[in-house]
Amino acid sequence: MKKRIVVLAAATALSALAFGTMANAEESKGLIGVAMPTQDLQRWNQDGENMKAQLEEKGYEVDLQYAGNEVQTQVSQIENMIANGDQLLVIASIEGDSLGTVLAQAKEAGIPVIAYDRLIMNTDAVSYYATFDNYLVGKTQGQYIVDALDLENQDGPFNLEMVTGDPGDNNVNFFFGGAMDVLQPYIDAGKLVVPSGQMTKDEVATANWATDAAQSRFENILSSNYADGTPLHAVLASNDSTALGVVNALAANYTNDVYPIITGQDCDIANVPNIIEGKQAMSVFKDTRALASKVVEMVDAVMQGTEAPVNDTETYDNGTGVIPSYLCEPVAVTVDNYKEMLIDSGYYTEEQLQ
Ligand code: BGC
Repeated sequence: MKKRIVVLAAATALSALAFGTMANAEESKGLIGVAMPTQDLQRWNQDGENMKAQLEEKGYEVDLQYAGNEVQTQVSQIENMIANGDQLLVIASIEGDSLGTVLAQAKEAGIPVIAYDRLIMNTDAVSYYATFDNYLVGKTQGQYIVDALDLENQDGPFNLEMVTGDPGDNNVNFFFGGAMDVLQPYIDAGKLVVPSGQMTKDEVATANWATDAAQSRFENILSSNYADGTPLHAVLASNDSTALGVVNALAANYTNDVYPIITGQDCDIANVPNIIEGKQAMSVFKDTRALASKVVEMVDAVMQGTEAPVNDTETYDNGTGVIPSYLCEPVAVTVDNYKEMLIDSGYYTEEQLQ
């Protein structure tokens, strides 16, 4: 009697399992691995959530992982994705140069890879790249400073400092490069000067894009170059986490009546109130919903064996050749248009920004 019950239970469990597996196989269009760098910064949480929701809506299962900004953690997560049979990988890398070995395994296993937001360097395993127009992000920031200081008509000289991001992030070359292409002629003409003398990409870098690292570097700049009352007119900050570090440093260490024009990027919730209060002049809005939906289109196309949408086949060479890319459009946001861009568009609610 006892034995029969056990057998029956086992049979029920087995058929439930078989049924479950069949139902899943029928429902799912495939398992997609999504590797995001960190949950520390707001945007990657949004990117991850948008990707998961939009992929699931299209019928995919999603294996979403965040790596706490640790390269080795991200490598292990990708190894697991390959071992678990993920059929396509979408990766926002922490360090563009550190995934060659693990992506060789993906290629060997026939798993396509899409680079998300940041290009993955020196590997031929990447099929597509989707991002925002990163060079235009930098140019928009640089042009904002030029217009705000009216550098076409004013001689200055105006004092400028610069803060960019992690040197291992390929985007930094475009953000900083784009901004400097706009600003350098004015530096050469003597209309802009950089009192700290820190002007190369490495000198102005911020490891991991961390707010506290940007803040402490900026505190040093202020105490060495501005403590005597020298005015600071503009700060090129490549994104909002670094802009926040600059604003914090200024709050405690700068008293001049001239408050600098500070740029940013991402329209983070922490920064928008600063834009409204005039502590940060602008940010570059990159609607992560738009990027996610473009990547989901790419995933779907690759999974169906068709061509993915691209609009740039020239700009992003990862060292093995140009990676076909889709570039979404970044938009400058200031106190004048933040309501339309961020609230009316449904990106944030008014309450979130208070
Ligand atoms: C992204 C930015 C972000 C930065 C820090 C860059 O690669 O493009 O949007 O602010 O990383 O996470």
